[in-house]
Amino acid sequence: MRASWPELEAQIAACSRCRLSQTRTHTVLGEGDPHAALMFVGEGPGQQEDRTGRPFVGPAGQLLDRMLAAIALTREQVYICNVVKCRPPNNRVPEADEREACMGYLRAQTALVQPKVIVCLGSTPARALLGDDVRITRDRGLWHLRRGVWFLATFHPAALLRDEAKKRPAWEDFQAIRDKLLELRAHPALAQDAPQADQTGFIPIS
Ligand code: URA
Repeated sequence: MRASWPELEAQIAACSRCRLSQTRTHTVLGEGDPHAALMFVGEGPGQQEDRTGRPFVGPAGQLLDRMLAAIALTREQVYICNVVKCRPPNNRVPEADEREACMGYLRAQTALVQPKVIVCLGSTPARALLGDDVRITRDRGLWHLRRGVWFLATFHPAALLRDEAKKRPAWEDFQAIRDKLLELRAHPALAQDAPQADQTGFIPIS
């Protein structure tokens, strides 16, 4: 039987399925519209997410907010979560058994949200959801249709903070996401709001 949101939240909060539970402060379930057409999946909580229990609230999250604004969306209109729900120490990449221990929660979230489009932010979610052979630099921006859901992998916003050159391809990916939602007519509000990239500063028009 499918878990409800409160059941899932309680299961995750009490989870001790892997070693990450021993060092966490808070679990990070996810947040946003529980029936969003567009779902973002990141890698795992960082320091500020571990402290607050909320996904993508640190510097990478602030950039994600601006990237969303650039396609006329807010974080309340999408659903944002991670592959692992507990912070890996020192923000290391989650190990295979840690990812595997958490995958059931991500599947349960996806079953509840029933998004039309899932965006993998960086290589950890891309590999977890699309396959171990995905290489983010080579495969970002490509659409995959799996069981009626469109998947796209793009760079993690933290990668954009480290490397300005990744902003242009990431902006192209976000435009493709906007266009896919319009094509699926999954977000009528988008049709009225022109992209505001030049105002948000996500991708300076030069
Ligand atoms: N990076 C992630 O992958 N997820 C977060 O929630 C924050 C930073």
